[in-house]
Amino acid sequence: MKQKLIFTNLVGEAIDTLVGELGNPQVVVVADTNTAQFVLPILRNDSKAVADARFISIKSGDANKNLDELQTVWRELSAMEATRSTIVINLGGGVVSDLGGFAAATFKRGMRCINVPTTLLAAVDAAVGGKTGINFNGLKNQLGSFYEPDAAIISTIFFNTLPEQQILSGYAEMLKHGLLENPDTLAKLLKYSPVYPVFDSAALMPLLEANVLVKANIVDKDLTESGLRKALNLGHTIGHAFEAYSYEQKSPIAHGYAVAWGLVTELVLSDILLGFPSETLHQFADYVNKNYGAYPITCDDYPALIAAMRQDKKNTNPSDINFTLLEAVGKPRIDVVVSDDKIKAALDIYRDLMHLA
Ligand code: GLY
Repeated sequence: MKQKLIFTNLVGEAIDTLVGELGNPQVVVVADTNTAQFVLPILRNDSKAVADARFISIKSGDANKNLDELQTVWRELSAMEATRSTIVINLGGGVVSDLGGFAAATFKRGMRCINVPTTLLAAVDAAVGGKTGINFNGLKNQLGSFYEPDAAIISTIFFNTLPEQQILSGYAEMLKHGLLENPDTLAKLLKYSPVYPVFDSAALMPLLEANVLVKANIVDKDLTESGLRKALNLGHTIGHAFEAYSYEQKSPIAHGYAVAWGLVTELVLSDILLGFPSETLHQFADYVNKNYGAYPITCDDYPALIAAMRQDKKNTNPSDINFTLLEAVGKPRIDVVVSDDKIKAALDIYRDLMHLA
């Protein structure tokens, strides 16, 4: 893997060391309006490279992961006479690393880039693995590239001020990695409760480190998602449908919550179709129900949910709905086509497991 992964809470020092290793070129920090206000001042104190850096601000929120904000970054890079050896530091959540990473991938055909994720979700997902891009034409992540940054600096220092909902949202992706890895990793994750007042960001660090490496090892073998990386879509076919439907219904749910409920339903499918152990399914569903509650659906919602699954960009044939499922914890099976009837049966069981029926 090209991308160096650095796990430390001494973020400023790590940035200065990396910038030094890269020959102390010009540094540009890309941050959104939130991280610019709350995180950048701290890092300016802790890092000479950040204190001396130029700065580009983008609007926060997924709705601004668009061509307008991307053009702002390109324009400012141009005005600063940035070159290929300029280092872009993406300081923020997934919107910043996706958009800033894409700007770095395309400006002068590729600049150097360091991701400093400030949310748990970005630390376990967007900041690692080189997927960059923006939303376009009403569709998510329609324009982008696979472009690995030089490094990601993963820390937990920014998490203590995150709302609980954001911590849980990131933790859902950690649960997914646990399911893909092995029973021991999953058991450790199910023992930990990422909710206040129990949530302790320091205790999270060892779990986070092991977890990020699960993703890194997969990406290492298949950067461009031609095979194995599709395993990382576990929980996301149904999760994305829940998320899209919730937006349509004007009561949006957070991405990670949709993934948590998607994971439960896709484990049900795994149990029905591939013999995934029922005991683990029940244990997982109980954990999700306790920490995330349940996405309330009835059978009247099934047609719209299935229509949303059919639109998923992961489907290769427009009439098929394609899943990553598990034979057991740590044993993913990719490209499993599932019939509408089996999906409906899984949604029925999801409602039972979540005490909705
Ligand atoms: N978020 C899944 C991936 O990076 O492949």
